[in-house]
Amino acid sequence: IKKIGVLTSGGDSPGMNAAIRAVVRAGFYYDIEMYGIYRGYEGMISNDIKKLESKHITHVLERGGTFLKSARSAEFRTPEGRQIAYNNLKSHGIDALVVIGGDGSLTGAHLFYKEFGVPAIGLPGTIDNDLSGTDSTIGFDTACNTAIEAIDKIRDTATSHDRLFFVEVMGRDAGFIAINAGIGSAAAAILIPEKKMPIEHLVDKLRIRTKAKKASNIVIVAEGGKSGGATEIAALVSKHLPYYDIKVTILGHLQRGGSPSSYDRLLASKLGVSAIEGLLQGKYDVMAGLINNKVVYTPIKKAIVDDKSVDEDDFRVAKILST
Ligand code: F6P
Repeated sequence: IKKIGVLTSGGDSPGMNAAIRAVVRAGFYYDIEMYGIYRGYEGMISNDIKKLESKHITHVLERGGTFLKSARSAEFRTPEGRQIAYNNLKSHGIDALVVIGGDGSLTGAHLFYKEFGVPAIGLPGTIDNDLSGTDSTIGFDTACNTAIEAIDKIRDTATSHDRLFFVEVMGRDAGFIAINAGIGSAAAAILIPEKKMPIEHLVDKLRIRTKAKKASNIVIVAEGGKSGGATEIAALVSKHLPYYDIKVTILGHLQRGGSPSSYDRLLASKLGVSAIEGLLQGKYDVMAGLINNKVVYTPIKKAIVDDKSVDEDDFRVAKILST
């Protein structure tokens, strides 16, 4: 392997820049020419590919977002799109790929390897933490910190006005941000996509907390919740508790931005080096992840398909602490 291309794809996450930097630095260390593929698979199709030099990765580790930019490519999902992308890679002489992204992005790397035999390795880059084969994905820790910081501020005003707040966090199919941010911010209840909580349970819980004269009530709702997002849940609850002063805050994309936490910087750096070393050792069609602080290479198909679910024990802890 002489030339490696690196790209970020799908929803960006804090630490993607740190991961790109580590991949590129490790490539240089092993005398490999490194290429940046801009805007993910879109850039592979439109040939937006540039040779990277040291100057491109100076002062990027601490920056949020991804300097290579990101996109969700519909064209790459078609065989014709992937053929164009492959031809472009070959025109640059790129013989291996590092793909940083979530499940959709890693699926792209898997298909590319299967169809064209291009050695590809994935790194878990998503705030959702919904990939198996790693304890944490790059960006998850920062996103949780951002959510908690925001919820702390909401609690100040919730307490001043005796209001009930429903705060929506990201996570279409996964409740990892919700459960972590919920426990970390002393939420009254946490609603996640993986588990249904009947609205009556939630209402009872809020009634009990009101009787116990809790200073404030904040309910965390993952955007992909079984009964809807924060707006829908708030509307349902207000029918049962019409005398409550209810407000809704949707944290949205602010969870995706910001300078990466120390944990995400370390994770991204370790995995970035492991991506290059894995490729040089012939580990293809795998995702590098960190389990118990050890680098583990998991087949991409397994990392995507295996259902990583929110720890039952986290629920137990959340329940005990919110009673
Ligand atoms: O996958 C990361 C994520 O932030 C999800 O939590 C969220 O549902 C989705 O991306 C939002 O995607 P977009 O930025 O394309 O609207």
